[in-house]
Amino acid sequence: PLATLNDVLTELKDKPAAIGAFNAHYLDIIPHLIKAAESQQAPLIMQITEATLQNSGIDNVISLSMRLIEKSSIPIVIHYDHGKDIDRVKACIDAGFSSVMYDGSKLPYEENVKRTKEIVAYARPKGVSVEAEIGHVGTVSGEGGDAFYTHPDNASEFARITNVDALAVSIGTQHGLYKDTPKLDIERLKSIHRKVDVPLVLHGASGVPDEDIKKVTAYGICKINIASELKAPWAQAIRDFQKENPDEYDPRKILEPAHKAYVKAVKEKMSLLGWNHAA
Ligand code: 13P
Ligand code: ZN
Ligand code: NA
Repeated sequence: PLATLNDVLTELKDKPAAIGAFNAHYLDIIPHLIKAAESQQAPLIMQITEATLQNSGIDNVISLSMRLIEKSSIPIVIHYDHGKDIDRVKACIDAGFSSVMYDGSKLPYEENVKRTKEIVAYARPKGVSVEAEIGHVGTVSGEGGDAFYTHPDNASEFARITNVDALAVSIGTQHGLYKDTPKLDIERLKSIHRKVDVPLVLHGASGVPDEDIKKVTAYGICKINIASELKAPWAQAIRDFQKENPDEYDPRKILEPAHKAYVKAVKEKMSLLGWNHAA
């Protein structure tokens, strides 16, 4: 059934446990993601970015997802990832997303507070959960400017004033695939965890060593965002398939190994987080 971040994260807050939040990049991958979660009996946070909405269409994403979610045996959150435009975030709430991220992390603090509050005021009466970000998780390529770390006192005040349901923090991760192993600032996370009462979110979790993924779940991280580590094996599977089958031109045959590689990567992350009850 359809769920919000509160439905799936609140019970994990004081446990060393987290849920994977996986990006679905196009319509066809949505049923594969849901099937993967069902086979592991794992609660699912399915994330959709603006780029996906532009390609696939918001109504198509919602109608396909809702049809599958209604029939599913596991709680599924359909979450708009990294919404930067207030009107667009509101449109996603209106369209049927059960959860949204408003990402004002590049804005001055006061502006981030103001806009996040506006989204919370819009979302809450509709029963939609809101994630926001304080500090800024950058990208490996450096695109979009430098990352800045989350200040614990800042995070505490931000969470209190905005009343968000979940808070993304910056503790050394980046979006994309790292050139070197990232070094997480666990002491900073511990101090954020002591001061912030809402479930915390780790963005840029692709490429973070397994031990660190497990470690952060003990200090308030309840949602682990994974996109690049799904896209990379998807693309590699296509390259491998085409090398072995250079004359194949049936899209379904070319996509099949890519879907399998995506599902395998999702299941591995779910198992790492302890969600492998059907295995
Ligand atoms: P990665 O690029 O590390 O997978 O990060 C994903 C993410 O944070 C999505 O919001
Ligand atoms: Zn992110
Ligand atoms: Na990453």
